[in-house]
Amino acid sequence: MEHLVEISRIIDGALKGDRAKVLAYVEQLARKLREAGDEKAADRLTQTATQTKTSEVAPNIASAVATRLPVDTESRFSLADEEWIDRATAHIVLDSGVQQRVDEFLRFVRAADQLMANRVGISPSMLIYGEPGVGKTELARHIAAQLGLPLITARSDALISSFLGSTAKNIRVLFEHVKSRPCVLFLDELDSVAKLRDDHHELGELKRVVVSLLQNIDALNNETVLLGATNHSHLLDPAVWRRFSYKLELLPPDPEARAKMFGMFLGSFVGDPAALAEYVEISSGATGADLRYVCETAIREAVLADRAIVTDTDVLRALVHLRLGVKADMSRDDAPLVKAVRDISPSVFTLKRLAALFGSSEPTLSRRLNSEDSHGQQRAKAPNQGRPHARRRSPGK
Ligand SMILES: Nc1ncnc2c1ncn2[C@@H]1O[C@H](COP(=O)(O)OP(=O)(O)OP(=O)(O)O)[C@@H](O)[C@H]1O
Ligand SMILES: [Mg+2]
Repeated sequence: MEHLVEISRIIDGALKGDRAKVLAYVEQLARKLREAGDEKAADRLTQTATQTKTSEVAPNIASAVATRLPVDTESRFSLADEEWIDRATAHIVLDSGVQQRVDEFLRFVRAADQLMANRVGISPSMLIYGEPGVGKTELARHIAAQLGLPLITARSDALISSFLGSTAKNIRVLFEHVKSRPCVLFLDELDSVAKLRDDHHELGELKRVVVSLLQNIDALNNETVLLGATNHSHLLDPAVWRRFSYKLELLPPDPEARAKMFGMFLGSFVGDPAALAEYVEISSGATGADLRYVCETAIREAVLADRAIVTDTDVLRALVHLRLGVKADMSRDDAPLVKAVRDISPSVFTLKRLAALFGSSEPTLSRRLNSEDSHGQQRAKAPNQGRPHARRRSPGK
């Protein structure tokens, strides 16, 4: 049977006298019918729902429901943010294995009717973990956009109330809200709950919060798509971890994904396509957020210089900053810095490129490199006097 999910939720809402839930799922069902070309049935459904008590119902059912995001009773801050994401604006680039897992998740969630009818339904939940900037939040936006549902992002600052006892209540209120409408609930920065351990909260409070989170997740009853994200998977309570049927680790992008990202972030400003391979080579280990920073910095340079495309120098300068830190001041052709840049990749940072980056001549730079190389050899003979290896710093975060 088609649309089993929506119909069962409408019945559930009606039996419990939950008007908002009935209206929200009627809206969702009508949208699906319209997409399938059945305008008549969609109009009829919407009419039936809105005629029940016309005075109480706004013309656009979804907007009437959406305006009631719950708030923290003490601070009055909204407990969540709501976003409708246009498919065209949620661009995510993933390594192919990860992309397959995401596609599989989307297929299973879309086919919930069929899977439920055959008793092999899944809990539509995914925990996304990985270091900052790898695209966890972006992936949650992509999933909501693909499912055509609003993304309700829990605001951990508002949710975790400074008043003892209120945090668990806030969690319950938020979960009650998401159960009343079709949406994707996104618990971003899930580790913030675990971090309560370091705060002034006592351990008993933390336990209550975790128990409340678990109970509420369980009570979702497979009806709401639940996404969670964390940078610190090891801090998560194992019981929270187990609640998610899909666990997806996002890593810094592989070369193929980096090439796509450079193309995507540079957009119409992309210059020499042949140079893309070089950008990819020297950006190993960078996250999507790092690459976005690099491309946006390069585009700014191009815009200020009144150019319609970026040059290699624009992009390479930003990449050097990414690798060596923003303090790598290329306005001075300081010998150790010239060498550090060349050592990122001697095949990319040729004398010609170095000359363009440092605004200096090739013979001068060649002298700097020779002097630095001979110093280096002397230092190697006298160990412990060399400079410590510079750690990679990301100015993008
Ligand atoms: N895989 C990716 N595909 C496309 N864009 C990406 C990707 N990863 C990062 N980005 C870009 O970097 C920005 C920051 O990424 P995002 O906020 O999703 O990272 P995050 O993993 O949630 O980081 P944090 O742990 O700091 O919250 C995004 O808005 C997006 O523009
Ligand atoms: Mg994030």
